[in-house]
This record gives sequence, structure tokens and C-alpha cells, in this order.
Amino acid sequence: MDLYEYQAKELFAAHDVPTILGEVVTDAAAAKAAAERVGAPVVVKAQVKAGGRGKAGGVKFAPTADDAGEKAGEILGLNIKDHIVGKVLVVEAADIESEYYVSFLLDRTNRCFLAMASVEGGMEIEEVAETKPEALAKVLIDPLVGVDLDKAKEIVLEAKFPAELVDKVADVLVKLWETFVSEDATLVEVNPLVLDPSGKILALDGKVSLDENADFRHPEHAALVDDSATDPLEVKAKEKGLNYVKLSGEVGIIGNGAGLVMSTLDVVAYAGEEFGGVKPANFLDIGGGASAQVMADGLEIILGDPEVKSVFVNVFGGITSCDAVANGIVQALEMLSADGTVITKPLVCRLDGNNADEGRRILDEAEHDVIELVDTMDDAARRVAELAAAAS
Ligand SMILES: Nc1ncnc2c1ncn2[C@@H]1O[C@H](COP(=O)(O)OP(=O)(O)O)[C@@H](O)[C@H]1O
Ligand SMILES: [Mg+2]
Repeated sequence: MDLYEYQAKELFAAHDVPTILGEVVTDAAAAKAAAERVGAPVVVKAQVKAGGRGKAGGVKFAPTADDAGEKAGEILGLNIKDHIVGKVLVVEAADIESEYYVSFLLDRTNRCFLAMASVEGGMEIEEVAETKPEALAKVLIDPLVGVDLDKAKEIVLEAKFPAELVDKVADVLVKLWETFVSEDATLVEVNPLVLDPSGKILALDGKVSLDENADFRHPEHAALVDDSATDPLEVKAKEKGLNYVKLSGEVGIIGNGAGLVMSTLDVVAYAGEEFGGVKPANFLDIGGGASAQVMADGLEIILGDPEVKSVFVNVFGGITSCDAVANGIVQALEMLSADGTVITKPLVCRLDGNNADEGRRILDEAEHDVIELVDTMDDAARRVAELAAAAS
């Protein structure tokens, strides 16, 4: 889960990483009031989960509280990389001597953690990384050792920070690492980390991604979830505990097992080429069990997507046998009908593996209008694409 800047900096503050917090507001009048409390001059900053806000006009200096209200009015509603700005942070304007870059991240390629740092931080860091890679220090971190003061100094020296700042920046890095580990983050990034004229080091921006696999250790992270910008079907799927991702096509997909569902997306996209470029409408892995309830929940989400024209239920019976899944499908359709859902979209089902024959028999016998059984995955993909194209 990615956090907003203001949330990232709240975590920083909780771990003693020096930063300035400000206030988050959703309209211009409140921005003006916030600027009065914070004390002008302030900076008004779009809170969207996208980088490059400064370049997109989402970060503006306001010398007075009145001006902060005006600037907030300009920033709210902006579209920054497909994120509509719904809230802004009003924060004290810092005096900046220099802008640096520091981050810790999970480096999957090296199966390790990685520290990155540069004395050329600020809004051009991507450019620096691209054209002057030597200006971006990269230091691998042994997960079993972590970042102590010595390791932090090594990172700071590698990045060629001025000698008089080494201790101060290293101290911030140790605290940032502590944030990274104790919050179970996969990324903490500060750009810019600034030096102010009084010699203080401050995190003026923050980017944090939290590892959702560690949510069980962090009940407090639930408060950081903000679904206002998430697809409503994804929100609903999450509430039901389903592994669902909305995509942009027309063929709804349900399968058991992430690998099977991934390959189903591929075969459907491939088959769809023949029918005018029909594509998968979602990823949905109903996992092991595949009870009638889980199947009903999955079908409800997928059938509720107006873009879906046909549905592919692709099941490989392994631990869960096909007859259990077939019963699940039949009961799911009954449950949905009982709830008043009228099901008209065709359901192409392919059952293979453990007890497939029995599963097919159950579906055959159910004689449900919308269910069509197809034996192989490729043929089923072709059929479901054809049906989607016919309905579009
Ligand atoms: N509180 C602040 N005081 C002064 N300048 C700021 C402040 N916050 C951001 N800036 C300036 O705006 C630039 C962009 O802001 P930042 O928060 O890094 O957004 P983004 O990375 O999305 O462009 C920073 O590099 C910094 O120069
Ligand atoms: Mg930034």
C-alpha cells in the first residue's frame, strides 16, 4: 500500500525523522484557515499517490494565508497523472540551502535491501539517475545486519555528502531505516531531504510503501487506508476478502490459483485478438476452497461490472475437486437469483483435474441457461471472447 506524503511524514515523525507536518484540508477556505494556524509563508501541496507533483503544478508557494487559499483552489481538482487532487497539505515553507535524495527499498533482483542517496536531490532526480548514474550512490544492505551508524556513514560518504553533514545525515538515515524496518515498508524515500540555513536536515517530501503481507503485525496501518481513489469494485472485493484486480477489457475471469488466473488472462487476450481485440476485464483468484459463497461473491463482483460481456470460469481441480466447485457455481447462481440478480451474461466454464467428469455432470444437469461447458482452456478462451465480441 502506497501512502500519501502527509501520511509518510507522520510515520517519519513517529520515528524521529526530522520533518514538518502541516495540515491536510479539502477546500480553499480551510486551506486559508490552515495557513493562518501554520503561519505564512506556506507551501500548498497536492496529496495524490503520484510523483512529480511539483512539475505538474501541484506544489505552490504561498506568501500569505489569503494566497494559500487561492493556491489551494488552483491545485484542488487538478489531474496529476490520472489522480484527481482531492486534498492538499498546507505546510510551513522551509528555507532550502540544498536538496538531497535518500531512500531504502526492497531490491527484489538482488534479493536484498538497497540504500540510494544523492547530493543532487530535488525534482530532477530521475534525470540525474538516467544521465549521471555516478551521482546516485547505491549500497546493498544485508537484511540480517541492517543499517547502524557505520553503515549509514558508508552510504553518506558513497554519495559524497559534504564532510560537515556526514554525521547529521547518517543520523537521519539510521532513523529512516528504523522506520523502514519497524513499519514493514518496502520503500521509504525522501526527496528532497534538505539542509536549511540553520544547518538542520529535514525531510520535505516522503514516499512510503507498506508491505501488506505484514498487515497482521500492524493493526494501526488500517487507519492509513484511503479507498476514495480506488475502483469501487476493488473496494467491494477487498471487503469480501477476494483477490481481485479490475482491468479494462470485456471478459470477466474467475479461476482458482493465481498462476492459473494469470495464464487465463493471457489465453483470453490472445484469443480475443481474433474478435476485434476483446480483453480480460479483471483478475480474480478464488483460491483453494472455492465454496459456493466465495463463488457467489466473485460472480457478484464480476457481473456487477458493466463492462463485462461474458465470463470465463476456469477451474483446475487440485486440492479442491471439480464437483465441489461445480456445486459452488450452481449454488452461487441460485444465491444470486434469490437476491434478485438477473443473470444474463454467458458463463463459459472449463473444469479439469480432480473429479472433472463429476463436475461437468453437475453443471450439465443443472441445465442453467447461461452456463456453457467447454472442455479445454484454449477453446473456452476462444468461445468466451467470441461471446463478449457478440455482445459488445
Ligand atoms: N515545505 C516546503 N518548503 C519549501 N519548499 C518545498 C516544501 N515542500 C516542497 N518544496 C519544494 O517543492 C519541490 C517539490 O515538492 P515535493 O514534495 O518533492 O513534490 P514532488 O516530489 O511530488 O514533486 C521540492 O523539491 C522542494 O523544492
Ligand atoms: Mg519529491
